[in-house]
This record gives sequence, C-alpha cells and structure tokens, in this order.
Amino acid sequence: MAYLLGIDIGTSGTKTLLVNPRGRILASVTVEYPAYAPKPAWSEQVPEDWWKATVKSIASAVRAAGVKGAEVTGIGLSGQMHGSVFLDRGGKVLRRAILWNDQRTGAECEEITQAAGGREKLIGLVSNPALTGFTAPKILWVRKHEPRIYEQAAKILLPKDYVRYRLTGEFATEVSDASGTLLLDVKRRAWSKELLGLLGIDAALLPKVYESPEVSGRLTAAAAKATGLAAGTPVVGGGGDQAAGAVGNGIVRRGVISATLGTSGVVFAHADTVETDPLGRVHTFCHAVPGKWHVMGVVLAAGGSLQWFRNRLCQDLVAEAKTRKIDPYQLITAMAAKVPPGSHGLYFLPYLTGERTPHADPNARAAWVGLSNMHDRAAMARAAMEGATYAMRDCLEIIQGMGVPITEIRISGGGAKGKLWRNLQADIYRGSVWTVSSGEGPAFGVALLAGVGTGVWATVPEACDATIRTVSETKPDKKNVALYDRLYPEYGQLYRSLKADFRRIAELHQ
Ligand code: XUL
Repeated sequence: MAYLLGIDIGTSGTKTLLVNPRGRILASVTVEYPAYAPKPAWSEQVPEDWWKATVKSIASAVRAAGVKGAEVTGIGLSGQMHGSVFLDRGGKVLRRAILWNDQRTGAECEEITQAAGGREKLIGLVSNPALTGFTAPKILWVRKHEPRIYEQAAKILLPKDYVRYRLTGEFATEVSDASGTLLLDVKRRAWSKELLGLLGIDAALLPKVYESPEVSGRLTAAAAKATGLAAGTPVVGGGGDQAAGAVGNGIVRRGVISATLGTSGVVFAHADTVETDPLGRVHTFCHAVPGKWHVMGVVLAAGGSLQWFRNRLCQDLVAEAKTRKIDPYQLITAMAAKVPPGSHGLYFLPYLTGERTPHADPNARAAWVGLSNMHDRAAMARAAMEGATYAMRDCLEIIQGMGVPITEIRISGGGAKGKLWRNLQADIYRGSVWTVSSGEGPAFGVALLAGVGTGVWATVPEACDATIRTVSETKPDKKNVALYDRLYPEYGQLYRSLKADFRRIAELHQ
C-alpha cells in the first residue's frame, strides 16, 4: 500500500502523521523540544532539535502504524513560519534560529519600510508591511548585530526547509512559507528581486521556490538510514503551518474560512486573487493551492492567553487535574462557564507578547480592565477567553471589510475542543461555527499535499473533498450575540486608550 507522511515542525514539538491513501490517520506521534528566551520577548530554538524530533517521530509513527518504511511513498513538510536558520557553506548551522514570536526587530522593520520608500510601496512590492515576526527583519538584525555570522552565511532557510535540507540535501522552499519572509513577490510567486536589491540581500542566500504540492527533492541514503524510510522517497514543497492547516481543514475555496485557536489565533480566508488590506493589518500570502492566495489575521496569544493563565495562576487546578487524570482546561473552563456572559464588566486584552492583527504593535501588553471587588479568578478566566475571541473577531471584521465573503466558519485548535469556547466563538462571531473531521491541522494538510504531488489525488481541493467533512455545528445564541455586539466596541476602545501608555511603559522598562 502507498502511505503518506505529514510532518509539522511546530514551536512546541514536531508532529508526524502517517496517513493512508483514503486520508485515514494510522499514527500520530509528537516529539517535543524547548524554546529559549535569552532576553525578554526574544525567542529561539536549536535546529538540530527539530531534526532529531523529525527522525524520532517518523520512526515511531511508522512503527506504531505497523507498516514498512519502504511503503511510505510521499512526504509533506509543514512548520512554524518566519523563523531564520543561517547555514555556512558546509551546511552547518551558524546560530540558533530566531522564531516567529521574537520581537527584537522593531528598528529593522523601520529600516525595511524606509528602504522600500514607505509602507505603501513595501505593500506594493511584497503585499505586506514589515512586522517584527517576519524573516527579512531577522536577516537585517543578524547582519547588524552579528556581522561575523552574516559573513559566513551561505543559505538562510525557514524551519521546515532546514528539515527538508537534512532529508533531501536540497535548498528549497515553497510559496506559502516564503510569503512570510517579506522577500517574496506574493503576486508573482517568486523572490522579489527589487526588494532584495533595495535591502542589499544576495538572492543566492535564499532557496529555490516551489508550489506546495510539487516534488522538491528525494530522501538521501543517509536520511533513509536515519529514518527507516526508502532512499529516493519524494518530499513535496508542503506549506507554512497556517496554509497547511487550512488545507487540513478544507479551506480551499472562496467563502469557507477557518478560525484556529491554538497558542496563536488565526482567521484564514482563501482568495482566488491577491487581496490586500491597504492598512496592512492582515497578511496576504500565497496559498498552498497552486495559483491561489490567502488572507489571514494573526492574534499572537489567543489560546496562549489561557495557557499563560493556567501556568501562572492555576497551579492548584493543574495539580488537581493531574490527580483526577483530566485536562486542567476542563477545570478552568468549568469555572469560567459559571460566570455570566460579559464577565460582570471585566475585559481582557490578550496582548501578552505584543500584537500583530489588528495593531501591529510589539509594545502592546495584556491587561484586565474593570476589575472590582466582586470579580474572582473564574471571572478573570472568562474575560480572558472573551478577550481572545474579540481579538479573533477583529481579524474577521477586517477580512469581511476587504469584501472577502464568509459563508462558513470552520473552527479548530484547542478553542474547538471545549463547549464554552465553541459557544463563545459562535456568539462573538455572530454565526454558526463548524468542527471538521480531520482535526490534525497542518500535518494532515501536508500529508494531503504529498498525496497530490505523488498522484494519489489530482488537485488539492479534490484531496480535501475526498478526506474532510464538517462534523458538528454550534449555533449562536441570539441574546448573547446582542450582548457581545454591545460590549465588543468597548474592547476595541481600550487598546486605543492604552496605546500611548504601552509605548511609554516599553520605553521605561527597556
Ligand atoms: C503565522 C505565524 C504563526 C507561526 C507559528 O504567521 O506566525 O502561526 O507560524 O505557528
């Protein structure tokens, strides 16, 4: 039988799925690794950890499914976007990778905007403004602060493309992840020679760009030996985790959009043509569907806000959950569900690590506003969930405002698992939300892309139609919709009121 592997190089771990040609998942293995924060708001990882986790998870997934390594006929790679891996001439990693959620590059973003002749011109060249998470500002940062490393650099790769290099020996990427470097001409789906020239970055530092289902290389003998797969197994382009996750949720046609509440929160819409927000509040990237694009809003700490709340303020519940062998989120959301909608006037801004959509503000910080002596931890939990969901609505409203139709909202990630968060999403988005059958996001999406690249399905939409269906609908509650419609504008106003304070606080605590 011909089996497909989907590998997602995530921020907390690498997940490998083994999928059969009907799209059934036979094994799912995750191997975790640490992230490092050498300074506040910096975020780095060791690329060798990704490689070790990839090898280990492939071998375990093949073993768990009880298939032979040689029966795997296609591999797809997905990964955390925007990270930078600097390699020397011999392919050796020169420094730890700087990740998507690292905020050190504010000055470099301004430099890029100026070099391009202003924000509008930059959006004209690469369809997006410069944001601290993107790759190009990281390249400029290393050039300025670590010139010896920059001088030795022969290639700069994205996280999943480093793993591709270790699997195939090829320097390659694909359009969806390349879009998040800020160096791709998103309209033409090729590196922007113009911006590279303006920034003085040698195009030879960048890998070759493929479409997502195209075969980008084949497993080397050494990688075959390490993983137990067959030498020569094709590896397709794959996708950045958001585009790949969208394929895994079947977001491959106009009108069907996804709202994924994981650590970050992402609202993702398919687009048949290049659609940009003139204010640059949402990203416009190439889709993993050849010849198509997508727009997406990214909330940096959506589920991440509740994760932080659990880790810092609910250690007693974490311990209780461990004894009862249940998920601590069950206890936290059960407590939050007892608080009425609107949390008795308590609001939460989820900007723990700054924000991308809609504010593009690395200085923004989280806050509960409106605390009174009647509030308790349960109200704080509910307000945190409401705040993260309002932030997702910010993304939805911008996308809608661009004229992108929304006919169906598919939800995934941790936010799709519990009833309270499903209800909150339906009430705050003002429409039904649907869960889908696949549920395994990016790794599943790239397994499908591997199937398309190796002839199992003819096109990406065909692969999705054959394997993904909606399973449950959560309808909004009319009364709650009306209530949240009244409260949401106040949530928006709070950031505007605090914006200047966030900046001053950042300056005071540099
Ligand atoms: C997308 C983004 C994150 C990362 C990590 O623009 O920054 O979703 O890809 O998952």
